[in-house]
Amino acid sequence: MHIRQLQLRDFRSWQELNLDLEPGVTVFIGRNGFGKTNIVEAIGYTAHLSSHRVSHDSPLVRAGAANARVSTIAVNQGRELNTHLLIKAHAANQAQLNRTRLASPRELLGVVKTVLFAPEDLSLVRGEPAERRRYLDDIIATRQPRLAGVKADYDRVLKQRNALLKSATVALRRGYHHDEGASALATLDVWDSQLAGFGSQVIAARKKLLVELSEQVHQAYAGIAPESRPARLHYKSTVDDTLKELVGDTADGLDPQVIEAAMLAELGKKRQREIERGMSLVGPHRDDLDLILGDQPAKGFASHGESWSFALALRLAEFSLLRSDGTDPILILDDVFAELDRQRREKLVAIALEAEQVLITAAVDGDLPGNLDDVVQRHQITMKTTEAGRFSELEDNSDIGNPEEH
Ligand SMILES: Nc1ncnc2c1ncn2[C@@H]1O[C@H](COP(=O)(O)OP(=O)(O)O)[C@@H](O)[C@H]1O
Ligand SMILES: [Mg+2]
Repeated sequence: MHIRQLQLRDFRSWQELNLDLEPGVTVFIGRNGFGKTNIVEAIGYTAHLSSHRVSHDSPLVRAGAANARVSTIAVNQGRELNTHLLIKAHAANQAQLNRTRLASPRELLGVVKTVLFAPEDLSLVRGEPAERRRYLDDIIATRQPRLAGVKADYDRVLKQRNALLKSATVALRRGYHHDEGASALATLDVWDSQLAGFGSQVIAARKKLLVELSEQVHQAYAGIAPESRPARLHYKSTVDDTLKELVGDTADGLDPQVIEAAMLAELGKKRQREIERGMSLVGPHRDDLDLILGDQPAKGFASHGESWSFALALRLAEFSLLRSDGTDPILILDDVFAELDRQRREKLVAIALEAEQVLITAAVDGDLPGNLDDVVQRHQITMKTTEAGRFSELEDNSDIGNPEEH
């Protein structure tokens, strides 16, 4: 798929951007801080409803503006869809598809598919589990938007359950023989069953994704860093032990109903500790994706170069997987070439030249690999200072249709 048109209003440093895009490679060049990443961040936001740089929406709204707007015309196998997002700094966002207001922005998931590789991706390997859970959940949301709704339900139940564990500690400790205790525990029972109902679907989806992803990551890593050790993925869940007691190492461990039973059993085992600590200790929010090199965890053991290769392998695997579903995602390479050595650059370029649309940001042309010669469009980004403030601007809009002119 590709994006044919992008419009931004008051998104980050862009007061206004109207951009016609084409399939093939488009490059955004400009000095650091001029607003290149802001452009691809907006497209990534349309795909994932979250930014790869910040966890809250308020920084996305241009300083001094009330809302940000991001509109695209996405073309998927000849079919055009118009997406529109109204991003509010401190209120619920709104979305439209083909000018029809959606009940929830989540209904936009799956319309624009992107795979974004950025310097921040190093934290997939070196950062906290939340980064890796998000990697899995973003892929799941793109491929099966319904499950993004399940995840949102899970997050809501988790929040309410945590609130109960915190606020009703005294009552919960009194136990069933006390009126207040019995009522608080009954409420907790209700949250347990909902938590297990939604949580088991989240865990099952992640485990199923792992089955498809592991081999892709293994191969991608071997291709990028053949001199290194084999890369493996392992989904580490808070319900692993109980699940094993129930079904051993069989394929039943992927069945949401079996996982639900395991989660309920695990919640029973951990109830006392959860009450003592006032927080939920069981469920997909405590799980992690282990990245393994040889027989060691990548986190803490992998070298800088190996960590980069692993992060890149995760993104390339994501790209192959989405592509195998039948649609090329838009490949976004945000300022990454300067970080990579020649071998890794070439791998990335090889994939880039296959993708239907590639958006690349770089500070200077010199950061781009020499073998990237199929550039269709090149946009120079600049920063303009006016009385109203500093705004990003497109300096020119040069189509590289005829190389002789440049
Ligand atoms: N909410 C915002 N309002 C106004 N300007 C912003 C906002 N968020 C970021 N910026 C500006 O955007 C610029 C960074 O843009 P970015 O796209 O990250 O740059 P780069 O071209 O290096 O990728 C900085 O000048 C920053 O001040
Ligand atoms: Mg940048």
